Amino acid sequence: MSLLLGVNIDHVATLRQARYALLPDSPNAEPSPVDAAHDSIEGGADSITIHVRGDRRHMQDRDAKLIRAEIGVPINFEMGITEEMIALALELRPQFACLVPETREEVTTEGGLDVVGRRRETGDCIRRLQAAGIRVSLFIDPDLDQVKASAELGAEMVELHTGCFANAEGDAVETEVQRLADAARLGHSLGLQINAGHGINYGNLFRLFAVPHLTELNIGHSIVSRAMRVGMMEAVRQMKQLMATYPTGACD
Ligand code: PXP
Repeated sequence: MSLLLGVNIDHVATLRQARYALLPDSPNAEPSPVDAAHDSIEGGADSITIHVRGDRRHMQDRDAKLIRAEIGVPINFEMGITEEMIALALELRPQFACLVPETREEVTTEGGLDVVGRRRETGDCIRRLQAAGIRVSLFIDPDLDQVKASAELGAEMVELHTGCFANAEGDAVETEVQRLADAARLGHSLGLQINAGHGINYGNLFRLFAVPHLTELNIGHSIVSRAMRVGMMEAVRQMKQLMATYPTGACD
């Protein structure tokens, strides 16, 4: 099977909130995340990723409910480990939930979830979500201890944080690719589905192709940015086209 694409449409809501945060019921409120989800699917998205943050800076609960009700492809619900978000996830019942660390000050999710340090609350959250039929992914740094802990806690998937890879320059890129590859190999050997995300764009995607066992990439910022020029459907189509050359089945 070819590499799957989860399109993160949070930034569509970011743009709407920039003007309409205080006028949520305005008939003028745009752009619509639901429309962006439909366009993404037409462009070839395999799943739609949304993150309702504790501070509601972009996606609102209402967006999440509408998207869950209207969208035919799986929803990947990114969430911090809080009672509020667990309750929302149990109400929405998305196909997937991705547990992420969340601090109020950050511009976007900065580091991976510390599964080793937060073993008990992470395990408890995983069990509650899985009991509701939700498959759970943990967004972690490409660190072998974090991968092991994720498998021990019974998560179905990990999403390897590609932020350091995306920000690396020169020789450091290869070092980051190797870290990701090592984490992917270990995770795969422990039965985890391996996803990756954060900072992936149309230019750096190819360097990730040296990472084996990838099932899905979650990409937001670069797709929404390109959509400003070519539209959402075309931006997603172009990314999927590039992803189609990932050497699946090529295990080492
Ligand atoms: N995966 C996770 C867990 C994220 O928090 C984000 C950012 O919201 C992404 C993927 C997408 O990152 P980007 O917007 O840089 O493509």
